Amino acid sequence: MASNTGDEIEVRELAANSIELIREIDRSEHIDVLYTVDDGRLHSERVEIEVPPWDPEGDGDHSSARRITEFEPIVTGGAALLGAFIDDLFAGIAIVDPSFEEGTAWFAFLHVSRVYRRRGVASALWDAGVKIAADAGASSMYVSATPSGSAVGFYTSHGCRLAERPHPELFAMEPEDIHLTCPVT
Ligand SMILES: CC(C)(COP(=O)(O)OP(=O)(O)OC[C@H]1O[C@@H](n2cnc3c(N)ncnc32)[C@H](O)[C@@H]1OP(=O)(O)O)[C@@H](O)C(=O)NCCC(=O)NCCS
Repeated sequence: MASNTGDEIEVRELAANSIELIREIDRSEHIDVLYTVDDGRLHSERVEIEVPPWDPEGDGDHSSARRITEFEPIVTGGAALLGAFIDDLFAGIAIVDPSFEEGTAWFAFLHVSRVYRRRGVASALWDAGVKIAADAGASSMYVSATPSGSAVGFYTSHGCRLAERPHPELFAMEPEDIHLTCPVT
């Protein structure tokens, strides 16, 4: 599959072994807003957090190797691996499992390299993921979002809202995340 959003971002569905592209992502970010959920509502607070790039060496908690080990089984298990390219340069990556549960897809992974942010790359990946989910018959998308202003700002700008009932396993894995759902149309 290949699709174009705008005139320069191309989203391609990639073979499972292209998950190695995660090593090329610069996930570094200055976070100035952090979200929490209290009494079923989103609350934001100002913070100053510097998130470094993933460690290119070894397989520690913050390494790119760990991310690959973590997400490879999801892709080989049937989730779609999407890459976004600008002028053929790799800009971002997403993983969407269209058949996570009956009627529900899971947007499992989304990263855009720092220099390519705020140019619509994640939106192009999201649109492609939503289409895959809709084609598979899903009516909603589940997202366990990093609680940063950028991630929550991104998903809420695409119609995601707080999940009324967070998914028990995904919540147990990432209790500090913001658990969201979004209708798939
Ligand atoms: C979150 C992330 C994927 C967004 O990628 P992106 O390509 O910059 O997003 P887009 O350009 O498609 O943004 C679309 C909209 O999302 C919202 N958004 C994006 N970045 C935002 C930010 N830093 N703060 C608030 N809202 C933001 C805006 O509404 C934006 O529209 P606008 O640029 O017209 O204002 C990117 O910042 C990223 O990779 N962050 C680090 C990893 C991460 O947090 N991933 C999500 C894990 S669940």
